[in-house]
Parts: sequence; C-alpha cells; structure tokens
Amino acid sequence: MDKKRIIVTGGAGYIGSHTCVELINAGYTPIIIDNFFNSERFIVDRIEQITGLRPDLIEVDCTDYSGLMTLLKGYKGIEGIIHFAAYKAVGESTQKPVDYYYNNIASTTALLKLMNILGFNNFVFSSSCTVYGQPDELPVTENSPIKTAESPYGRTKQMCEDVMKDYQKANQDQKVVSLRYFNPIGAHSSSLIGELPRGVPNNLVPYITQTAAGLRDHLTVFGDDYDTPDGTCIRDYIHVVDLAKAHVAAIEYLIRQKNGIYNVFNLGTGRGNSVLEVIRTFEEVAGLKLNYKIGPRRSGDIVKVYADVAKANKDLEWETELDLKDALRDAWSWERSLKEN
Ligand code: UD1
Repeated sequence: MDKKRIIVTGGAGYIGSHTCVELINAGYTPIIIDNFFNSERFIVDRIEQITGLRPDLIEVDCTDYSGLMTLLKGYKGIEGIIHFAAYKAVGESTQKPVDYYYNNIASTTALLKLMNILGFNNFVFSSSCTVYGQPDELPVTENSPIKTAESPYGRTKQMCEDVMKDYQKANQDQKVVSLRYFNPIGAHSSSLIGELPRGVPNNLVPYITQTAAGLRDHLTVFGDDYDTPDGTCIRDYIHVVDLAKAHVAAIEYLIRQKNGIYNVFNLGTGRGNSVLEVIRTFEEVAGLKLNYKIGPRRSGDIVKVYADVAKANKDLEWETELDLKDALRDAWSWERSLKEN
C-alpha cells in the first residue's frame, strides 16, 4: 500500500517522537531527520515498538542544505514536512545567541528552499507561545500582539514566523502553518517514549518527576508572590499526545487547502494552572508528597499565560482529549520506567 510520507525533523525528540507515533496511527509514514544532538537513537526503536512500523531515519543536520538535498531527492511521495529540529533552551540562548540564530534560522530556511525544489508544499512549523511575551489580555488569541522577545530563543521563533510569512507571500502555491505551543508535558501511555532532559531539567514537570524519583533533592517553586490566586505563575499545560495529534490535524488541514495559505494556531488546553496546582495534582496522581520549597522568582518568567484554542478547534478539527491528571500520571510512569531500565 502506498503510504503518504511526511518528513519529521527532530523526529527522535520529545514532541517529534510522539508526533511520529500519531502520524503512523493515522496512516502516514514518517521520515525522521535527526542529528541526535538532543535526542537518543533508541527512541526510533521505541516508535517501532509502539506502532509496528519503523520510520526511515536520515541522520543529517538540518542546516546542511546540500546534505539534505542529496539524502532526500530519491524519495517519492513526500506530502509535507513537520519541522521540530531546533535549539530550545531559553537560558542557554542568552549565552550562545549566535548558535541559536544560526541553527534555528538556517535549518528553517534550508528546509523551505528544499521544499520548493523537491515538489511538495505542506510545511508545519514548531513555534511557541513565547512569541506573545506577557499578554495584555487572556486567554491569548492568535491575534494577540507579538511582544519583544524575552530571549534569543524566543526571537528565533518570531523570526522564523516572519521568514515563513514572506516565503509564502512570494510562493503563493505553498501551504504553511505555524503552531504556537503552550507548555507540553506528559509522555506516551506506553511509557516507551517521553521527555529526556539532558542534565538538570529547566522545565517544571521533569523537575517534579525527577525530584519524586529521588534524582533531585527538592523542587524550588520560583516565586509565590505573583498577582495570581495562590501567588504562583499560571501556564497552559498540554499533554504531548494531544499536541502530537494536533500536528497530524495540521498536516491534514494543509492537504485539504485548495490554495496556498499561511496560518497560525495556538495549541493548548485553554485552561491555566498554577505551579502549586501542578504540584498538588502530581501528589494526588502519584500518591506521594513532593519535597518542594518556595524560592525567589526566576528572571524572565511570564506571570500568567493560557491559550484561546477556538481557532485550532474549528479549523484543525482538533480538540484535546487528555487533562492535567493524565499528563502528570503519564510523566510519572515514564520517569519510573527510566529508573527501571
Ligand atoms: C519555557 C520557555 C518556553 C518554552 C517552554 C517549553 C521560558 C521563559 N519559557 O516555558 O519558551 O516553550 O519552556 O516547555 O523559559 N517552575 C518552577 N520551578 C522549576 C521550574 C519551573 O517553579 O524548577 C515554574 C516556572 O516559574 C513557571 C512554570 O513552572 O511558572 C513553568 O516553567 P517551565 O516548565 O520552565 O516553562 P515556561 O517557563 O512556561
């Protein structure tokens, strides 16, 4: 049977691997492009274990335009590309801004150039709610103003969105969407794939699960004196499997479009939860007490942000199916599976 192929850059990464699973579940064949800079080879085996299908793997850096071209030109039946591969550590981006600008922008531009030549026209880009900064109004819609980025990482997302908009304007047959993720958390229910932070995690949920697993002494809550009901920051935490399914929905949305288009979608749950709510919910699903302390605010943190997801619900014909409890339960199972292996 002829299956539609979708290139997934960063397909061995956290969101990329879950998206490969959902693409396969929906009848697509992913071609993973990954340089394993921030991901592990065994994840490709795990995708096969979950789905029964082994995605093709191309090991190349996405900034390497001629390498990409050589390795991809033999492929037939490519329908589109989902571009995850990027540097993503906010703090590190302030230390190594040029690395971030080069890697994130060169890869996106290389892939856009290549798409034209290889003859497919559906492009899904992995963006972030970071483009909104601290929004003036909540929930955040896609029309909320884009604020000055807080970090070079955030600026690369804004710049790539601008590049794609210009690209689509000049290539009217091309179909491009930018997906602005809120806070992806959780893991696949099989506990075979999940987030694999290198070193000390920056993000809340891996820090919580590592603390519960005894890998960290305690979690520090970054500030409890914000103007929120319990004083801690509010985010929109979306289960990574729901997020992965939104990518399949985005590809299908693009395939449905008769004409070229550039569009932007928020991907969240539409609900905000505070840091303390996340901790309490984790304690409930894991059946334990988490060792945490209240510490000072983290510089650059947004007080409150959550998504209006009406546009994605309507146009992508997609809705979240899982909640915070599901996500924290799955993140905890994944953490425990890592300990066992
Ligand atoms: C961060 C990035 C965002 C990126 C997202 C990916 C920043 C400013 N933004 O979002 O661009 O898309 O990760 O997941 O870094 N917290 C603690 N203690 C901890 C860790 C976090 O209290 O040890 C709190 C934070 O203050 C925040 C919340 O938990 O209120 C979520 O933090 P985090 O998981 O790092 O995500 P964001 O900062 O929202």
